Amino acid sequence: MPFRIRRHSYAEVGATLSALDSNAVPFPKGFLFGAATAAYQVEGSVDVGGRGVSIWDTFSHTSGKTVNGDTGDIACDHFLRLEEDLDLLAELGVRAYRFSVSWPRIQPTGKGPANPEGLDFYRRVVDGLRARGIVPVLTLYHWDLPQPLQDEGGWPQRDTVSRFAEYAGTVARALGGTVGRWITLNEPWCSAWLGYGSGHHAPGIRDIGKAVAATHHLLLAHGEAVQAIRSAVPAAEVGISLNLTPIRHATDHEDDVAAARRTDGNANRLFLDPVLTGSYPPDMLEHYQGSAPGFAVVRDGDLEVISRPLDFLGINYYTPQTVADEARTAQAMVAGYCVPTAEIDLISSDLHAVPVQRQAFRRTEMGWEVEPAALTELLDRLHQEYPHVPILLTENGAACADYVGQDGSVQDPERIRYLDGHLRAVLQAREAGSDVRGYFVWSLMDNFEWAYGYSKRFGLVWIDYPTRTRIPKDSFRWYAQTVRANALLPTVEATAGFRA
Ligand code: FCB
Repeated sequence: MPFRIRRHSYAEVGATLSALDSNAVPFPKGFLFGAATAAYQVEGSVDVGGRGVSIWDTFSHTSGKTVNGDTGDIACDHFLRLEEDLDLLAELGVRAYRFSVSWPRIQPTGKGPANPEGLDFYRRVVDGLRARGIVPVLTLYHWDLPQPLQDEGGWPQRDTVSRFAEYAGTVARALGGTVGRWITLNEPWCSAWLGYGSGHHAPGIRDIGKAVAATHHLLLAHGEAVQAIRSAVPAAEVGISLNLTPIRHATDHEDDVAAARRTDGNANRLFLDPVLTGSYPPDMLEHYQGSAPGFAVVRDGDLEVISRPLDFLGINYYTPQTVADEARTAQAMVAGYCVPTAEIDLISSDLHAVPVQRQAFRRTEMGWEVEPAALTELLDRLHQEYPHVPILLTENGAACADYVGQDGSVQDPERIRYLDGHLRAVLQAREAGSDVRGYFVWSLMDNFEWAYGYSKRFGLVWIDYPTRTRIPKDSFRWYAQTVRANALLPTVEATAGFRA
């Protein structure tokens, strides 16, 4: 049976909802439904308005670093099509929009006075959102470090922390009157471990000791930015977005259990513990003892800065991860796992852990396993181990093999199923006590997926790259219905699943 989604007009949704009341799954009043993007992934216009060069400009223009040599030079042309995209957000009906500010648009060299043209653009973003009744959620750093700061050493250098604090204060003073929700960093794990550990992301450095130092300086920059934002905008709600995931062991063999523990230490606790409890996990301090400069960059008082109280914890969740000890790959395969052929290794090499996946399990186009229950598991864990901090799901979504049909529509039942399943997982965690207050789909539109270039599509809106025409997908209409109803409606008759 083909997939069908009932196409109600938005006006009909209210009536439909009362007719289907018994089957609709409601969200709490005021639940912050949103959509997310990031500057380098959507804006383009990289040499317009006095913008400086970022590490992603340099990296994407280096041969062999991105699929097809794709760059963010034009991306979705969002910089020039801002009004059109704001109208799309209004049509989507989201209550909030998470976007990031491009540091090199504000400070082209990473230091010094603000570039007025850069600030103007984000003023237009924020004013345009507010005029449409949409809450702006501003991320200060979504990976686009000004290249001149990388030339001076980048995140492994302590000086970058002061530069970031200065930048945070500049943006907060300029936009604080109209922006109430602030995210300091997006996924510092990726900045540190893909940027300086595996080298799969900009600036493309492969050095474990530097990845540890970058981790610490990113976290310290976060803490300093919290302070800078609060002094400019006392009423601001401030958080950080961490990419977190449950780490499982392929078998119960003690070596696999230990490999999973190390991986959890690196992926989750290395960030959660300092930010929420003011200390680094002892097993990680020990593990990285021999990696210079590593934790030798930590100074007295740093952890107090890093653990300044937050108003919310942002979580970006996509997929669970299973690992085997690297000497036990064969046993993992006997136990029913396969070794994925993902181009980007999300497990750092120093952990001696191999990422494995269940055979014939549902996966997205990223090759990531689809398991909404793992999100509930993650939220339950956070609730148990790091209580008292409200949570925003600041990213969740799926890359699918979308295409434009002959009738001009983009039908994406797998994405709808993915989003529906994960929203149900959020509700389940809430029932168990987790204080999740909002959910942002990654992403509003297809965009530059970092090292994967334009080869992966995560959007609710299709981008026709040759013309930059926008086509809302079926998932866009589905999400619009969900947001307007503030409930999951039983409108999805999805029979198609992810390919195994
Ligand atoms: C996250 C990033 C985001 C996007 C999604 C798919 O790691 O924060 O920019 O690339 O993955």
